[in-house]
Amino acid sequence: MTEDDGLLSADDGEQPGDEWEELDVSDTEADRIARAQDREFLEFRKRIKNTEQFKVEASVFDDATLGALYKLVQDSYVDAFGGPISTGKEANIYTALAPDGEVAVKVYRINASDFKQMRAYLEGDPRFEGIGSDKKKVVVAWTKKEYANLERARKAGVRVPEPIAVERNVLVMEYLGDDDRRAKRLNEVHIENPETTYEVVREYMRRLYDAGLVHGDLSEFNIVVHEGELCLLDLGQAVTVHHPNSREFLERDCENVAGFFARQGVDVDADDLLAHVTEPEPDPSGNAE
Ligand SMILES: Nc1ncnc2c1ncn2[C@@H]1O[C@H](COP(=O)(O)OP(=O)(O)O)[C@@H](O)[C@H]1O
Ligand SMILES: [Mg+2]
Repeated sequence: MTEDDGLLSADDGEQPGDEWEELDVSDTEADRIARAQDREFLEFRKRIKNTEQFKVEASVFDDATLGALYKLVQDSYVDAFGGPISTGKEANIYTALAPDGEVAVKVYRINASDFKQMRAYLEGDPRFEGIGSDKKKVVVAWTKKEYANLERARKAGVRVPEPIAVERNVLVMEYLGDDDRRAKRLNEVHIENPETTYEVVREYMRRLYDAGLVHGDLSEFNIVVHEGELCLLDLGQAVTVHHPNSREFLERDCENVAGFFARQGVDVDADDLLAHVTEPEPDPSGNAE
């Protein structure tokens, strides 16, 4: 992440959600690397395409995506790529070795991305005005948005993977899990204390909202348990509260979350959750949660 892309320049005093400047999705260093095709890059490309665990996916990555991976290695964010953690509709996630330990690398596939759906989230987001309809630009903006959203969530006190670097359509972040496997999702674990778990998720949703963000795809599938803590994942689609559909997204998040915890026996409904998330800050002298 360089200083000059203006993503993290949150000026105090503005409305939450307003403080992002436009995202720069112009030609990236990865595009230039791919165009130049110098010897080192070609060697890197050959090597990665022959890596056993990368074989299938690497063959669908375009040169500029490989250029982004190459740049991340050059910039020492990654030393070596590991195996896939997840192959989703739009992105693949890999483990990778970094100088300080393991990281997770999320690679958005430009061609596989559900472009129409992405546009619905990007349109109306003040950070993305004038982005146009170029597929690459939309995905690059999306990836930067996920980085910015993670950063914003973290600052708001919501446990998410720490974002480490973003390059074109590739995001490097903290890896959640241990040597053997990724952290389990809420739908994969037995929840011993659903009431407390619900309260933590509710508090995260509220903190996000207070920071001007709505997750937009929150459910038991995007929450993991790592070292006994709940962490929210997958913030690519999160929008600011100023997005014209933010209320609709928030209501849907509340339905998913309340529905899941109701099935765990917690006495909740979506309306109560929505009210809690959106109600004004409690009196600071009161009992803060
Ligand atoms: N930082 C991470 N550390 C460990 N596992 C992760 C990380 N990010 C994602 N995953 C795993 O990969 C899955 C898919 O990632 P996600 O960001 O939700 O992408 P998708 O858009 O494909 O749903 C997650 O459900 C989780 O199991
Ligand atoms: Mg997900």
